Amino acid sequence: MNEGCFYITTPIYYVNDVPHIGHAYTTCAADILARYHRLRGRRVMFLTGTDEHGQKIVKAARDAGLTPQELVDRVVVRFQELWKAMDISHNDFIRTTEERHIRTVQTFFQTLRDKGLVYKGEYEGWYCIPCETFWPENQLDDRKVCPDCGRTLEKLKEDSYYFALSQFEKPLLEHFAAQPDFVMPESRYNEIVSFLKGGLRDQSISRVGLEWGVPVPDDPAHTFYVWFDALINYLSGVDYLKRSTQFDAFWPAVVHLVGKDILRFHSVLWPGMLMGAGVEPPQRVFAHGWWTVEGDKMSKSKGNVVDPYQVVAAYGVDRFRYFMMREVSFGLDGDYSERALVERCNADLSDNFGNMVHRTLKMLEKYRGGRISLPASYAEEEWDALLGEVITNFESFMDRFAFAQALEQVWKLAHAGNRYIDKKAPWQLAKNPENREELDRVLYRLLDCSRLLALFVFPFIPRAAGRLWEMLGIKEVLDERRIPADLVWGKIETFSPAEAQPLFPRILDDDRQENTERR
Ligand code: MSP
Repeated sequence: MNEGCFYITTPIYYVNDVPHIGHAYTTCAADILARYHRLRGRRVMFLTGTDEHGQKIVKAARDAGLTPQELVDRVVVRFQELWKAMDISHNDFIRTTEERHIRTVQTFFQTLRDKGLVYKGEYEGWYCIPCETFWPENQLDDRKVCPDCGRTLEKLKEDSYYFALSQFEKPLLEHFAAQPDFVMPESRYNEIVSFLKGGLRDQSISRVGLEWGVPVPDDPAHTFYVWFDALINYLSGVDYLKRSTQFDAFWPAVVHLVGKDILRFHSVLWPGMLMGAGVEPPQRVFAHGWWTVEGDKMSKSKGNVVDPYQVVAAYGVDRFRYFMMREVSFGLDGDYSERALVERCNADLSDNFGNMVHRTLKMLEKYRGGRISLPASYAEEEWDALLGEVITNFESFMDRFAFAQALEQVWKLAHAGNRYIDKKAPWQLAKNPENREELDRVLYRLLDCSRLLALFVFPFIPRAAGRLWEMLGIKEVLDERRIPADLVWGKIETFSPAEAQPLFPRILDDDRQENTERR
Protein backbone atom coordinates (compact mmCIF):
# COMPACT_ATOMS: atom_id res chain seq x y z
CA MET A 1 0.00 0.00 0.00
CA ASN A 2 1.25 3.46 -0.84
CA GLU A 3 1.66 6.10 1.79
CA GLY A 4 -1.47 8.22 1.91
CA CYS A 5 -3.72 5.62 0.28
CA PHE A 6 -6.75 4.28 2.07
CA TYR A 7 -8.80 1.29 0.93
CA ILE A 8 -12.09 0.64 2.66
CA THR A 9 -14.78 -1.90 1.85
CA THR A 10 -18.32 -2.87 2.79
CA PRO A 11 -19.58 -6.44 2.52
CA ILE A 12 -21.07 -7.16 -0.87
CA TYR A 13 -24.77 -7.57 -0.34
CA TYR A 14 -26.91 -10.50 -1.37
CA VAL A 15 -29.38 -9.53 -4.04
CA ASN A 16 -31.99 -12.10 -3.10
CA ASP A 17 -33.87 -9.28 -1.44
CA VAL A 18 -34.08 -5.49 -1.46
CA PRO A 19 -31.88 -3.36 0.82
CA HIS A 20 -32.78 -2.72 4.46
CA ILE A 21 -31.38 -0.65 7.30
CA GLY A 22 -28.62 -3.19 8.01
CA HIS A 23 -27.16 -2.69 4.53
CA ALA A 24 -27.58 1.06 4.80
CA TYR A 25 -25.75 1.04 8.13
CA THR A 26 -22.45 -0.49 7.02
CA THR A 27 -22.43 1.47 3.79
CA CYS A 28 -23.06 4.72 5.60
CA ALA A 29 -20.28 4.06 8.10
CA ALA A 30 -17.91 3.28 5.24
CA ASP A 31 -18.94 6.47 3.49
CA ILE A 32 -18.20 8.54 6.56
CA LEU A 33 -14.73 7.04 6.83
CA ALA A 34 -14.12 7.55 3.12
CA ARG A 35 -15.16 11.20 3.26
CA TYR A 36 -13.18 11.79 6.43
CA HIS A 37 -9.99 10.38 4.99
CA ARG A 38 -10.45 12.34 1.76
CA LEU A 39 -10.70 15.46 3.89
CA ARG A 40 -7.46 14.39 5.48
CA GLY A 41 -5.93 14.45 2.04
CA ARG A 42 -5.71 10.71 1.52
CA ARG A 43 -6.32 8.94 -1.76
CA VAL A 44 -9.34 6.86 -0.90
CA MET A 45 -10.64 3.78 -2.61
CA PHE A 46 -14.10 2.92 -1.30
CA LEU A 47 -15.59 -0.28 -2.68
CA THR A 48 -19.07 -1.68 -2.27
CA GLY A 49 -21.10 -4.06 -4.41
CA THR A 50 -23.31 -7.10 -4.62
CA ASP A 51 -22.94 -10.82 -4.00
CA GLU A 52 -24.89 -12.38 -6.82
CA HIS A 53 -24.13 -16.11 -6.85
CA GLY A 54 -25.24 -19.08 -4.81
CA GLN A 55 -28.20 -21.14 -3.88
CA LYS A 56 -29.99 -18.30 -2.10
CA ILE A 57 -30.19 -16.31 -5.31
CA VAL A 58 -31.34 -19.32 -7.33
CA LYS A 59 -34.11 -19.91 -4.84
CA ALA A 60 -35.23 -16.28 -4.77
CA ALA A 61 -35.26 -16.18 -8.58
CA ARG A 62 -37.33 -19.34 -8.74
CA ASP A 63 -39.81 -17.89 -6.25
CA ALA A 64 -40.09 -14.74 -8.35
CA GLY A 65 -40.48 -16.63 -11.62
CA LEU A 66 -37.26 -15.17 -13.00
CA THR A 67 -33.90 -16.50 -14.11
CA PRO A 68 -31.08 -15.79 -11.63
CA GLN A 69 -29.60 -13.30 -14.09
CA GLU A 70 -32.89 -11.47 -14.43
CA LEU A 71 -33.29 -11.33 -10.68
CA VAL A 72 -29.83 -9.99 -9.95
CA ASP A 73 -30.08 -7.41 -12.73
CA ARG A 74 -33.28 -6.14 -11.21
CA VAL A 75 -32.28 -6.09 -7.57
CA VAL A 76 -28.82 -4.61 -8.05
CA VAL A 77 -30.48 -1.41 -9.25
CA ARG A 78 -32.24 -1.09 -5.90
CA PHE A 79 -28.90 -1.03 -4.16
CA GLN A 80 -27.29 1.35 -6.63
CA GLU A 81 -30.20 3.77 -6.39
CA LEU A 82 -30.23 3.63 -2.64
CA TRP A 83 -26.58 4.59 -2.47
CA LYS A 84 -27.34 7.57 -4.69
CA ALA A 85 -30.23 8.60 -2.48
CA MET A 86 -28.03 8.27 0.59
CA ASP A 87 -25.14 10.34 -0.82
CA ILE A 88 -22.77 7.39 -0.74
CA SER A 89 -19.46 8.31 -2.35
CA HIS A 90 -18.07 4.89 -3.34
CA ASN A 91 -15.40 4.84 -6.02
CA ASP A 92 -16.43 1.54 -7.51
CA PHE A 93 -19.27 -0.93 -7.36
CA ILE A 94 -18.48 -4.57 -7.90
CA ARG A 95 -20.87 -7.32 -8.92
CA THR A 96 -19.68 -10.88 -8.56
CA THR A 97 -21.20 -11.75 -11.93
CA GLU A 98 -18.79 -9.40 -13.68
CA GLU A 99 -16.06 -10.85 -15.87
CA ARG A 100 -13.29 -9.04 -13.95
CA HIS A 101 -14.38 -10.80 -10.78
CA ILE A 102 -14.92 -14.24 -12.27
CA ARG A 103 -11.41 -14.22 -13.71
CA THR A 104 -9.96 -13.06 -10.40
CA VAL A 105 -11.64 -15.91 -8.51
CA GLN A 106 -10.38 -18.48 -10.99
CA THR A 107 -6.84 -17.12 -10.96
CA PHE A 108 -6.79 -16.97 -7.18
CA PHE A 109 -7.86 -20.61 -7.06
CA GLN A 110 -5.12 -21.56 -9.54
CA THR A 111 -2.57 -19.89 -7.31
CA LEU A 112 -3.73 -21.89 -4.31
CA ARG A 113 -3.73 -25.06 -6.40
CA ASP A 114 -0.23 -24.38 -7.72
CA LYS A 115 0.94 -24.05 -4.15
CA GLY A 116 -0.49 -27.44 -3.29
CA LEU A 117 -3.14 -26.01 -0.98
CA VAL A 118 -6.17 -27.43 -2.76
CA TYR A 119 -7.32 -31.05 -2.92
CA LYS A 120 -10.43 -32.91 -3.98
CA GLY A 121 -12.34 -34.75 -1.31
CA GLU A 122 -15.80 -35.67 -0.34
CA TYR A 123 -17.98 -33.51 1.74
CA GLU A 124 -20.70 -34.84 3.90
CA GLY A 125 -22.49 -32.50 6.15
CA TRP A 126 -25.57 -30.76 7.35
CA TYR A 127 -26.29 -27.82 5.13
CA CYS A 128 -28.43 -24.77 5.77
CA ILE A 129 -29.65 -23.50 2.43
CA PRO A 130 -30.71 -19.99 3.53
CA CYS A 131 -27.41 -19.42 5.35
CA GLU A 132 -25.31 -21.23 2.72
CA THR A 133 -23.44 -22.93 5.52
CA PHE A 134 -22.41 -26.48 6.23
CA TRP A 135 -22.50 -27.33 9.92
CA PRO A 136 -20.21 -29.93 11.48
CA GLU A 137 -22.00 -32.68 13.40
CA ASN A 138 -20.44 -31.65 16.72
CA GLN A 139 -22.17 -28.25 16.63
CA LEU A 140 -25.65 -29.70 16.20
CA ASP A 141 -28.14 -31.37 18.46
CA ASP A 142 -30.63 -34.11 17.55
CA ARG A 143 -33.04 -31.74 15.89
CA LYS A 144 -30.48 -30.94 13.17
CA VAL A 145 -31.52 -27.35 12.83
CA CYS A 146 -29.29 -24.45 11.84
CA PRO A 147 -27.62 -22.93 14.93
CA ASP A 148 -27.89 -19.51 13.28
CA CYS A 149 -31.38 -19.32 11.87
CA GLY A 150 -33.12 -22.34 13.44
CA ARG A 151 -34.29 -23.80 10.17
CA THR A 152 -34.10 -27.51 9.31
CA LEU A 153 -30.83 -28.64 7.78
CA GLU A 154 -30.35 -30.97 4.85
CA LYS A 155 -27.78 -33.76 4.82
CA LEU A 156 -25.58 -33.46 1.78
CA LYS A 157 -22.74 -35.61 0.51
CA GLU A 158 -20.81 -34.58 -2.54
CA ASP A 159 -17.43 -34.25 -4.21
CA SER A 160 -15.80 -31.02 -3.24
CA TYR A 161 -12.56 -29.13 -3.56
CA TYR A 162 -10.97 -28.24 -0.27
CA PHE A 163 -8.72 -25.42 0.72
CA ALA A 164 -6.14 -26.50 3.32
CA LEU A 165 -7.21 -23.88 5.86
CA SER A 166 -6.03 -25.99 8.81
CA GLN A 167 -2.42 -25.34 7.75
CA PHE A 168 -2.97 -21.70 8.63
CA GLU A 169 -4.10 -22.18 12.18
CA LYS A 170 -0.69 -21.34 13.59
CA PRO A 171 0.13 -18.50 11.18
CA LEU A 172 -3.27 -16.98 11.91
CA LEU A 173 -2.78 -17.17 15.66
CA GLU A 174 0.62 -15.56 15.24
CA HIS A 175 -0.90 -12.86 13.09
CA PHE A 176 -3.52 -12.12 15.74
CA ALA A 177 -0.86 -12.01 18.44
CA ALA A 178 1.27 -9.60 16.41
CA GLN A 179 -1.67 -7.35 15.55
CA PRO A 180 -3.98 -6.83 18.51
CA ASP A 181 -6.21 -4.54 16.50
CA PHE A 182 -6.55 -6.90 13.54
CA VAL A 183 -10.13 -7.49 14.63
CA MET A 184 -12.08 -4.70 16.32
CA PRO A 185 -13.75 -4.17 18.74
CA GLU A 186 -11.65 -6.01 21.29
CA SER A 187 -14.44 -8.33 22.44
CA ARG A 188 -14.70 -9.64 18.88
CA TYR A 189 -10.96 -10.07 18.69
CA ASN A 190 -11.05 -12.25 21.78
CA GLU A 191 -13.94 -14.24 20.39
CA ILE A 192 -12.06 -15.05 17.19
CA VAL A 193 -8.83 -15.90 18.97
CA SER A 194 -10.62 -18.45 21.12
CA PHE A 195 -12.31 -19.83 18.03
CA LEU A 196 -8.89 -20.25 16.40
CA LYS A 197 -7.53 -21.94 19.50
CA GLY A 198 -10.31 -24.50 19.13
CA GLY A 199 -8.65 -25.66 15.90
CA LEU A 200 -9.36 -25.19 12.22
CA ARG A 201 -10.68 -27.63 9.65
CA ASP A 202 -10.03 -27.49 5.96
CA GLN A 203 -12.64 -25.52 4.09
CA SER A 204 -14.83 -26.94 1.36
CA ILE A 205 -14.75 -24.42 -1.48
CA SER A 206 -16.81 -25.91 -4.28
CA ARG A 207 -20.23 -27.35 -4.95
CA VAL A 208 -21.43 -29.75 -7.60
CA GLY A 209 -24.75 -29.34 -9.31
CA LEU A 210 -25.10 -25.65 -8.60
CA GLU A 211 -24.75 -23.93 -11.91
CA TRP A 212 -25.24 -20.36 -10.70
CA GLY A 213 -21.68 -19.69 -9.62
CA VAL A 214 -18.12 -19.20 -10.83
CA PRO A 215 -16.98 -22.39 -12.61
CA VAL A 216 -13.94 -24.17 -11.19
CA PRO A 217 -11.25 -24.12 -13.91
CA ASP A 218 -10.89 -27.50 -15.67
CA ASP A 219 -13.73 -29.08 -13.74
CA PRO A 220 -16.99 -27.62 -15.00
CA ALA A 221 -19.18 -29.80 -12.79
CA HIS A 222 -18.04 -27.64 -9.87
CA THR A 223 -18.75 -24.05 -9.07
CA PHE A 224 -17.14 -22.20 -6.19
CA TYR A 225 -18.75 -22.01 -2.78
CA VAL A 226 -20.33 -18.60 -2.56
CA TRP A 227 -18.15 -17.34 0.31
CA PHE A 228 -14.93 -18.31 -1.47
CA ASP A 229 -16.20 -16.40 -4.48
CA ALA A 230 -17.51 -13.42 -2.50
CA LEU A 231 -14.47 -12.68 -0.33
CA ILE A 232 -12.27 -12.37 -3.39
CA ASN A 233 -14.28 -9.32 -4.50
CA TYR A 234 -12.01 -7.23 -2.31
CA LEU A 235 -9.14 -8.12 -4.65
CA SER A 236 -11.12 -7.86 -7.88
CA GLY A 237 -12.06 -4.31 -6.93
CA VAL A 238 -8.43 -3.15 -6.94
CA ASP A 239 -7.32 -4.97 -10.05
CA TYR A 240 -5.42 -7.82 -8.43
CA LEU A 241 -5.18 -9.66 -11.75
CA LYS A 242 -3.05 -7.09 -13.44
CA ARG A 243 -1.18 -6.32 -10.24
CA SER A 244 -1.61 -2.84 -11.58
CA THR A 245 -0.59 0.33 -9.85
CA GLN A 246 -4.06 0.35 -8.32
CA PHE A 247 -3.42 -2.90 -6.52
CA ASP A 248 0.00 -1.86 -5.29
CA ALA A 249 -1.34 1.48 -4.14
CA PHE A 250 -4.34 0.19 -2.20
CA TRP A 251 -3.68 -3.33 -0.99
CA PRO A 252 -3.81 -4.30 1.85
CA ALA A 253 -7.17 -2.75 2.67
CA VAL A 254 -7.08 -0.52 5.73
CA VAL A 255 -10.37 -1.90 6.91
CA HIS A 256 -13.12 -4.30 5.93
CA LEU A 257 -16.30 -3.16 7.66
CA VAL A 258 -18.65 -6.08 8.32
CA GLY A 259 -21.56 -7.09 10.53
CA LYS A 260 -20.82 -9.32 13.51
CA ASP A 261 -22.55 -12.30 11.83
CA ILE A 262 -20.00 -12.47 9.02
CA LEU A 263 -16.90 -11.73 11.04
CA ARG A 264 -15.56 -15.27 11.08
CA PHE A 265 -15.49 -15.49 7.29
CA HIS A 266 -13.59 -12.22 7.18
CA SER A 267 -11.15 -12.77 10.00
CA VAL A 268 -10.35 -16.47 9.64
CA LEU A 269 -11.18 -17.86 6.20
CA TRP A 270 -10.25 -14.71 4.28
CA PRO A 271 -6.83 -14.02 5.83
CA GLY A 272 -6.17 -17.78 5.61
CA MET A 273 -6.93 -17.71 1.88
CA LEU A 274 -4.71 -14.68 1.41
CA MET A 275 -1.82 -16.18 3.33
CA GLY A 276 -2.19 -19.28 1.16
CA ALA A 277 -1.97 -17.23 -2.01
CA GLY A 278 0.96 -15.21 -0.69
CA VAL A 279 -1.02 -11.99 -0.42
CA GLU A 280 -0.90 -9.78 2.66
CA PRO A 281 -4.03 -9.91 4.85
CA PRO A 282 -6.11 -6.75 5.29
CA GLN A 283 -4.95 -4.45 8.07
CA ARG A 284 -8.16 -4.64 10.04
CA VAL A 285 -11.65 -6.10 10.16
CA PHE A 286 -14.22 -4.13 12.13
CA ALA A 287 -17.44 -5.90 13.15
CA HIS A 288 -20.43 -3.74 13.95
CA GLY A 289 -23.56 -4.78 15.81
CA TRP A 290 -27.08 -5.41 14.66
CA TRP A 291 -30.19 -3.26 14.63
CA THR A 292 -33.40 -4.42 16.18
CA VAL A 293 -36.62 -2.55 15.46
CA GLU A 294 -38.65 -1.31 18.40
CA GLY A 295 -36.96 -4.01 20.47
CA ASP A 296 -37.68 -6.84 18.03
CA LYS A 297 -35.47 -8.77 15.67
CA MET A 298 -36.04 -7.43 12.19
CA SER A 299 -37.65 -9.99 9.94
CA LYS A 300 -39.79 -10.22 6.88
CA SER A 301 -42.31 -12.46 8.57
CA LYS A 302 -42.81 -9.91 11.34
CA GLY A 303 -43.23 -7.23 8.69
CA ASN A 304 -40.96 -4.85 10.60
CA VAL A 305 -38.12 -4.52 8.11
CA VAL A 306 -36.99 -0.90 7.98
CA ASP A 307 -36.93 0.36 4.41
CA PRO A 308 -34.14 2.94 4.07
CA TYR A 309 -35.92 4.62 1.15
CA GLN A 310 -38.90 5.27 3.34
CA VAL A 311 -36.79 6.78 6.13
CA VAL A 312 -34.95 9.02 3.68
CA ALA A 313 -38.22 10.14 2.11
CA ALA A 314 -39.78 10.92 5.48
CA TYR A 315 -36.88 12.53 7.33
CA GLY A 316 -34.20 13.36 4.79
CA VAL A 317 -30.94 11.60 4.15
CA ASP A 318 -28.90 13.57 6.67
CA ARG A 319 -31.16 12.80 9.61
CA PHE A 320 -31.07 9.12 8.71
CA ARG A 321 -27.28 9.05 8.40
CA TYR A 322 -26.86 11.06 11.57
CA PHE A 323 -29.18 8.91 13.63
CA MET A 324 -27.49 5.66 12.65
CA MET A 325 -24.04 6.97 13.51
CA ARG A 326 -24.90 8.84 16.70
CA GLU A 327 -27.50 6.62 18.32
CA VAL A 328 -25.31 3.58 18.88
CA SER A 329 -21.64 3.12 19.66
CA PHE A 330 -20.20 1.52 16.56
CA GLY A 331 -19.63 -2.13 17.43
CA LEU A 332 -22.64 -2.51 19.74
CA ASP A 333 -26.20 -3.52 18.89
CA GLY A 334 -28.83 -0.82 18.61
CA ASP A 335 -32.53 -0.32 18.41
CA TYR A 336 -34.30 1.56 15.66
CA SER A 337 -37.52 3.44 16.18
CA GLU A 338 -38.96 6.53 14.56
CA ARG A 339 -39.42 8.12 17.96
CA ALA A 340 -35.75 7.68 18.78
CA LEU A 341 -34.75 9.11 15.41
CA VAL A 342 -36.94 12.16 15.83
CA GLU A 343 -35.84 12.81 19.40
CA ARG A 344 -32.19 12.45 18.58
CA CYS A 345 -32.35 14.66 15.52
CA ASN A 346 -34.46 17.32 17.17
CA ALA A 347 -32.13 17.53 20.14
CA ASP A 348 -28.80 17.51 18.36
CA LEU A 349 -29.41 18.76 14.85
CA SER A 350 -32.24 21.24 15.41
CA ASP A 351 -31.88 22.51 18.98
CA ASN A 352 -28.13 22.53 19.24
CA PHE A 353 -26.34 22.68 15.89
CA GLY A 354 -29.08 24.14 13.68
CA ASN A 355 -30.11 26.65 16.27
CA MET A 356 -26.63 27.98 16.88
CA VAL A 357 -26.02 28.48 13.18
CA HIS A 358 -29.41 30.02 12.56
CA ARG A 359 -29.15 32.49 15.40
CA THR A 360 -25.73 33.48 14.16
CA LEU A 361 -26.81 34.13 10.60
CA LYS A 362 -29.93 35.97 11.65
CA MET A 363 -27.98 38.29 13.95
CA LEU A 364 -25.43 38.97 11.27
CA GLU A 365 -28.22 39.93 8.91
CA LYS A 366 -29.88 42.12 11.46
CA TYR A 367 -26.92 43.91 13.00
CA ARG A 368 -24.40 43.96 10.18
CA GLY A 369 -26.42 43.66 6.99
CA GLY A 370 -24.89 40.25 6.35
CA ARG A 371 -21.20 41.12 5.87
CA ILE A 372 -18.30 40.85 8.21
CA SER A 373 -14.51 40.66 8.09
CA LEU A 374 -11.84 39.25 10.34
CA PRO A 375 -11.56 41.57 13.36
CA ALA A 376 -8.19 43.09 14.27
CA SER A 377 -7.80 41.26 17.57
CA TYR A 378 -9.23 37.81 17.43
CA ALA A 379 -7.26 35.22 19.42
CA GLU A 380 -9.03 34.09 22.59
CA GLU A 381 -7.50 31.49 24.85
CA GLU A 382 -10.72 29.71 25.71
CA TRP A 383 -11.75 29.18 22.12
CA ASP A 384 -8.25 28.09 21.12
CA ALA A 385 -8.18 25.54 23.90
CA LEU A 386 -11.63 24.23 23.09
CA LEU A 387 -10.87 23.73 19.41
CA GLY A 388 -7.56 22.04 20.22
CA GLU A 389 -9.30 19.61 22.54
CA VAL A 390 -12.11 18.88 20.06
CA ILE A 391 -9.67 18.20 17.22
CA THR A 392 -7.51 15.84 19.25
CA ASN A 393 -10.45 13.86 20.59
CA PHE A 394 -12.33 13.84 17.31
CA GLU A 395 -9.36 12.47 15.41
CA SER A 396 -8.62 9.81 17.95
CA PHE A 397 -12.26 8.66 18.00
CA MET A 398 -12.43 8.62 14.21
CA ASP A 399 -9.27 6.53 14.07
CA ARG A 400 -10.97 4.02 16.36
CA PHE A 401 -14.25 4.01 14.40
CA ALA A 402 -16.02 5.58 17.39
CA PHE A 403 -18.37 7.73 15.35
CA ALA A 404 -20.88 8.52 18.09
CA GLN A 405 -18.13 9.71 20.41
CA ALA A 406 -16.51 11.75 17.65
CA LEU A 407 -19.82 13.53 17.08
CA GLU A 408 -20.19 14.26 20.78
CA GLN A 409 -16.90 16.10 20.59
CA VAL A 410 -18.07 18.20 17.67
CA TRP A 411 -21.23 19.23 19.48
CA LYS A 412 -19.09 20.77 22.21
CA LEU A 413 -18.38 23.52 19.71
CA ALA A 414 -22.05 24.06 18.94
CA HIS A 415 -22.86 24.15 22.65
CA ALA A 416 -20.10 26.62 23.26
CA GLY A 417 -21.49 28.77 20.44
CA ASN A 418 -24.97 28.77 21.93
CA ARG A 419 -23.65 29.59 25.38
CA TYR A 420 -21.52 32.36 23.94
CA ILE A 421 -24.56 33.94 22.28
CA ASP A 422 -26.43 33.90 25.58
CA LYS A 423 -23.47 35.29 27.48
CA LYS A 424 -22.51 38.01 25.04
CA ALA A 425 -26.10 38.98 24.19
CA PRO A 426 -25.33 40.59 20.83
CA TRP A 427 -28.77 42.25 20.88
CA GLN A 428 -27.53 44.25 23.86
CA LEU A 429 -24.19 45.05 22.25
CA ALA A 430 -25.99 46.29 19.14
CA LYS A 431 -27.73 48.97 21.14
CA ASN A 432 -24.57 50.92 21.75
CA PRO A 433 -22.31 52.03 18.85
CA GLU A 434 -19.34 51.98 21.21
CA ASN A 435 -19.57 48.20 21.27
CA ARG A 436 -19.23 47.89 17.56
CA GLU A 437 -15.85 46.19 17.62
CA GLU A 438 -16.91 43.78 20.32
CA LEU A 439 -20.05 42.92 18.39
CA ASP A 440 -17.97 42.26 15.28
CA ARG A 441 -15.70 39.97 17.20
CA VAL A 442 -18.59 38.02 18.67
CA LEU A 443 -20.35 37.61 15.34
CA TYR A 444 -17.17 36.67 13.55
CA ARG A 445 -16.41 34.06 16.20
CA LEU A 446 -19.84 32.55 15.73
CA LEU A 447 -19.54 32.47 11.96
CA ASP A 448 -16.10 30.95 12.21
CA CYS A 449 -17.45 28.39 14.64
CA SER A 450 -20.21 27.55 12.14
CA ARG A 451 -17.60 27.08 9.43
CA LEU A 452 -15.63 24.68 11.61
CA LEU A 453 -18.81 22.78 12.43
CA ALA A 454 -19.56 22.42 8.71
CA LEU A 455 -16.12 20.87 8.20
CA PHE A 456 -16.40 18.49 11.12
CA VAL A 457 -19.87 17.23 10.22
CA PHE A 458 -19.28 17.07 6.47
CA PRO A 459 -18.41 13.35 6.47
CA PHE A 460 -21.57 12.54 8.44
CA ILE A 461 -24.18 14.85 6.94
CA PRO A 462 -22.64 16.07 3.71
CA ARG A 463 -25.78 17.63 2.31
CA ALA A 464 -26.49 19.84 5.33
CA ALA A 465 -22.81 20.72 5.62
CA GLY A 466 -22.88 21.86 1.98
CA ARG A 467 -25.96 23.99 2.57
CA LEU A 468 -24.41 25.57 5.61
CA TRP A 469 -21.22 26.27 3.68
CA GLU A 470 -23.26 28.03 1.02
CA MET A 471 -25.23 29.98 3.57
CA LEU A 472 -21.98 31.18 5.10
CA GLY A 473 -20.97 32.45 1.70
CA ILE A 474 -17.51 30.93 1.59
CA LYS A 475 -15.94 30.89 -1.86
CA GLU A 476 -13.61 27.93 -1.36
CA VAL A 477 -15.10 24.55 -2.28
CA LEU A 478 -16.11 22.57 0.81
CA ASP A 479 -14.93 19.13 -0.18
CA GLU A 480 -11.57 20.48 -1.24
CA ARG A 481 -10.93 21.70 2.28
CA ARG A 482 -8.34 19.80 4.30
CA ILE A 483 -8.23 18.82 7.91
CA PRO A 484 -6.50 19.55 10.15
CA ALA A 485 -5.08 22.46 8.06
CA ASP A 486 -8.46 24.23 7.81
CA LEU A 487 -9.42 23.56 11.40
CA VAL A 488 -7.98 26.81 12.69
CA TRP A 489 -9.69 29.97 13.80
CA GLY A 490 -9.73 32.91 11.42
CA LYS A 491 -9.00 30.95 8.26
CA ILE A 492 -11.63 32.82 6.25
CA GLU A 493 -11.15 36.57 5.98
CA THR A 494 -14.64 37.50 4.90
CA PHE A 495 -18.00 35.86 5.21
CA SER A 496 -20.75 36.97 2.88
CA PRO A 497 -23.72 34.88 3.83
CA ALA A 498 -26.88 34.30 1.91
CA GLU A 499 -30.24 34.53 3.59
CA ALA A 500 -30.51 32.20 6.57
CA GLN A 501 -32.75 29.16 6.20
CA PRO A 502 -33.19 26.69 9.06
CA LEU A 503 -30.89 23.71 8.48
CA PHE A 504 -32.94 21.20 10.43
CA PRO A 505 -36.45 22.39 11.22
CA ARG A 506 -37.74 20.57 14.29
CA ILE A 507 -39.90 17.57 13.53
CA LEU A 508 -43.18 17.90 15.34
CA ASP A 509 -45.38 15.09 16.56
CA ASP A 510 -47.89 15.89 13.83
CA ASP A 511 -45.27 15.29 11.14
CA ARG A 512 -44.45 11.98 12.71
CA GLN A 513 -48.06 10.98 12.76
CA GLU A 514 -48.31 11.76 9.09
CA ASN A 515 -45.30 9.62 8.26
CA THR A 516 -46.64 6.71 10.20
CA GLU A 517 -49.96 7.00 8.45
CA ARG A 518 -48.34 7.22 5.07
CA ARG A 519 -46.54 3.92 5.60
N1 MSP B 1 -23.11 -11.54 0.91
C1 MSP B 1 -22.68 -11.62 2.25
C2 MSP B 1 -21.44 -10.81 2.49
C3 MSP B 1 -20.27 -11.18 1.65
S1 MSP B 1 -18.91 -10.14 1.93
C4 MSP B 1 -17.65 -10.82 1.11
C5 MSP B 1 -23.80 -11.14 3.18
N2 MSP B 1 -24.71 -10.34 2.64
S2 MSP B 1 -26.02 -9.80 3.38
O1 MSP B 1 -26.69 -8.99 2.40
O2 MSP B 1 -26.77 -10.86 3.93
O3 MSP B 1 -25.59 -8.96 4.61
C6 MSP B 1 -24.73 -7.92 4.54
C7 MSP B 1 -24.51 -7.16 5.80
O4 MSP B 1 -25.72 -6.67 6.35
C8 MSP B 1 -23.82 -7.98 6.89
O5 MSP B 1 -22.67 -7.27 7.30
C9 MSP B 1 -24.83 -8.01 8.01
O6 MSP B 1 -24.22 -7.96 9.26
C10 MSP B 1 -25.62 -6.77 7.75
N3 MSP B 1 -26.91 -6.83 8.40
C11 MSP B 1 -27.96 -7.62 8.08
N4 MSP B 1 -28.96 -7.39 8.99
C12 MSP B 1 -28.57 -6.45 9.88
C13 MSP B 1 -29.17 -5.75 10.94
N5 MSP B 1 -30.38 -6.02 11.37
N6 MSP B 1 -28.44 -4.78 11.55
C14 MSP B 1 -27.18 -4.43 11.12
N7 MSP B 1 -26.60 -5.05 10.12
C15 MSP B 1 -27.21 -6.14 9.56
O7 MSP B 1 -23.77 -11.47 4.33
